[in-house]
Amino acid sequence: MIRVENLHKHFGGFRACDGASIEIAEGSITGLIGPNGAGKSTLFNVIAGVLPPTSGRVFMGEEEITGLPPHELFHKGLLRTFQIAHEFSSMTVRENLMMVPGGQTGETLWNTWVKRAQIAEEEAKLRDKAEEVLEFLTIDHLADEKAGNLSGGQKKLLELGRTMMVDAKIVFLDEVGAGVNRTLLRTIGDAIIRLNEERGYTFCLIEHDMDFIGRLCDPVICMAEGKVLAVGKAQEIMSNERVIEAYLGTGLKNRAKTEATAE
Ligand SMILES: Nc1ncnc2c1ncn2[C@@H]1O[C@H](COP(=O)(O)OP(=O)(O)OP(=O)(O)O)[C@@H](O)[C@H]1O
Ligand SMILES: [Mg+2]
Repeated sequence: MIRVENLHKHFGGFRACDGASIEIAEGSITGLIGPNGAGKSTLFNVIAGVLPPTSGRVFMGEEEITGLPPHELFHKGLLRTFQIAHEFSSMTVRENLMMVPGGQTGETLWNTWVKRAQIAEEEAKLRDKAEEVLEFLTIDHLADEKAGNLSGGQKKLLELGRTMMVDAKIVFLDEVGAGVNRTLLRTIGDAIIRLNEERGYTFCLIEHDMDFIGRLCDPVICMAEGKVLAVGKAQEIMSNERVIEAYLGTGLKNRAKTEATAE
């Protein structure tokens, strides 16, 4: 469904992505792991049109989508969420969901005067849809809560909910488990599995929690230093020597850095 060919993203002389090629099969929940600074978020950003690549190509099916802006990809059903949740904190959870689908009639002042009936009808539909999404994610009790008051995990669920307000085909989730407690992480995992099985969503998710990756993802792709190191089943990847070395390597480098700073 998504094919990335020999992707480079350089920041000055630094190669955040250094010739990465990946494939995401339709209907899969593909995991993307790798030590800090491996280039995972950068790869997501390039696929999702947030950053232009230095070189390389991205395809969705047969169509090349390299460098298309996020709103065009949104209309093709390609959505991403961010490592840090981007909710509108002063709006309620329900309102955050209802504002997702673009092109609503009520958005122009003129229309709010002349097309009241149509606007009311659209709003009622959106409200029903939001209700359905909230129930699916088991956060219907939070509908009227200001999004800014949600916990980290609840914000992640809301982000997932926002992808359900439109007919997404493929969703990229960046560190959905960061700062999320165990119970909520399970709820998020369950929602991802159900969206995959019942609604045919394809997922690609970056996550550091290996239990979560192991439960959800097949295949798992491991990146290190801007390159793809290994692809395979979760168990294989986690026992792969090169993968372990990459994690240990950055662990050691980071420790050396901390010690040097401490001195
Ligand atoms: N806009 C930027 N300008 C300069 N360097 C950047 C920029 N964005 C990312 N980098 C660098 O590129 C490298 C890869 O970053 P990236 O965020 O893709 O890593 P990651 O695999 O998502 O790591 P993490 O697991 O910590 O989120 C890092 O060393 C980072 O400092
Ligand atoms: Mg990242």
